Amino acid sequence: MRVACLTRLLLRRVVAAAIMTLAGLSTTAWAAEQMPRFVTGNGRHALFVDGAPYTVLAAQLHNSSAWPAVLPGALDQVVALNANTVEAPVYWEQFEPMPGQYDTTNVDALIEQARKRNLRVALLWFGSWKNGQMHYVPEWIKRDAGTYPRVLDERGQPVDVLSPYAAANVEADARAFTALMRHLRKVDGQRHTVILVQVENEPGTVGAVRDHGAAANAAFAQPVPVAITTRLGKPPGTWRQVFGPEADEAFNAYGTAHYIEQVAAAGKRAYAMPMYVNTWLRYKGKKFPGVDYPSGGATVNVFDLWRAATPSIDFIGTDIYTSDYNEYTKVIGQYARADNPAWVSETGFEPATAPYLFHVLGQGGLGFSVFGMDGLDSPEKQAATAAHAANFGQLAPLQRMLAKAAFEGRLQAVAEQPGQPRRTLHFGDWDVQVSYGAPYWGDADPILPGNPDHGGRLLVVQTAADQFLLTGFSARAEFVRVADDAQHGQLLRVEQGRYLDGQWRFERLLNGDQTDYGLNFVRDSPPVLRVTVGTY
Ligand code: DGJ
Repeated sequence: MRVACLTRLLLRRVVAAAIMTLAGLSTTAWAAEQMPRFVTGNGRHALFVDGAPYTVLAAQLHNSSAWPAVLPGALDQVVALNANTVEAPVYWEQFEPMPGQYDTTNVDALIEQARKRNLRVALLWFGSWKNGQMHYVPEWIKRDAGTYPRVLDERGQPVDVLSPYAAANVEADARAFTALMRHLRKVDGQRHTVILVQVENEPGTVGAVRDHGAAANAAFAQPVPVAITTRLGKPPGTWRQVFGPEADEAFNAYGTAHYIEQVAAAGKRAYAMPMYVNTWLRYKGKKFPGVDYPSGGATVNVFDLWRAATPSIDFIGTDIYTSDYNEYTKVIGQYARADNPAWVSETGFEPATAPYLFHVLGQGGLGFSVFGMDGLDSPEKQAATAAHAANFGQLAPLQRMLAKAAFEGRLQAVAEQPGQPRRTLHFGDWDVQVSYGAPYWGDADPILPGNPDHGGRLLVVQTAADQFLLTGFSARAEFVRVADDAQHGQLLRVEQGRYLDGQWRFERLLNGDQTDYGLNFVRDSPPVLRVTVGTY
């Protein structure tokens, strides 16, 4: 029996190798293909996992939940949320309890437990920075401020942040991070359970705008590196000359970004994973660096400087803690660029944030992650779980085709804006008119009320010239032919079905009341529809 199994396995390997050779791919090339990677093309972006674009439907554990004693329970909750990815920290203080001694217990448990549940992992390196402070550095660093200096504020007082201008600090972090990446390569280099690595957590300085230590002051008096002024299109000069009143924050942004660049580059040399940085945002009217938000993080006002200083960072994420439509979509608009994807590295775990996943995907984004879904049970937690489990559950079976369509520019999606019950999506000869607040069937009032919870959302993927895939919640969609050719539009076929293993499974045709008043996506268990349109 065992021999038979082994023979079958060998046979499978030989056949796979033959197929790869026939396809012109060496084993090494094939392995490289399977490596998670971040790809940009035509101003659009994709995270490739197992060789194809992947939508990240993620949940982040509470900060202290990545310990083996509590991890399994927390991961079960990620599974209950229908997420395909868990974001979980590796704590520097746990990983390197003594200088140069590494403890892989936590990260090994995380990978093993995630595999058991068929989850992918975004690993968060809680190193020098955690929320603009240094709380996760090992005790031997906290106790030795002489060797590992802290930022000094403008009065010369130390704050709870490692100085970005001390070689000992960056070298210690880079060494530990390299050890982590080397270990990852060893234990996960074939399986790729880990698909993303976040370098640090919400870096920047709380308690000062910049470091006023001797080394930092000397650097502040120097010219801005030419690579930075060139990229920003600014004339050369000192930090003060180039950035004027914003010089202290710009200087701290450069110091922080350059430090993280060195950590990331060292880690990538050990194992070239896609790496990102997350941002404590400058939004919601906040504007004082070091007080309102950590000075020197990748906030919108220093974003270009960050991109210039961190070539080893694949992209910058946004930690969005609001459900205000204008604020949420403004942030996405600021960070979704030709040189950066929309990526919500954290968002509030509440029902009202669920629709924004559709907005993120509609902006070509990689996905989003709800933060802290493994808390104590409460009515609020149950409501948030229900909303996000429905959201992720609806999209998880489609996630591969959504990511591919977004990368190819064939996906559009919207979330309901309060006071705006109608939106129009343009697909060449066809418009898709989206509305919120219509009944589930029957004529809609011309003055649509919108949804009381503003929970409407819809996405449309063009799958062929005359074919579209749609799904959403609390929304109605109508196809209108807009080509200038005297032809009338008609629905030829509306299939309800679902995706299973990447294949469309037909369930029934919709017609009559189910299509005559538009295609309706209800609040609970809405359908996935494949629509063929035509003319007469
Ligand atoms: C953002 C941080 O990145 C998380 O680690 C966590 O502290 C949340 N804030 C809490 O809201």
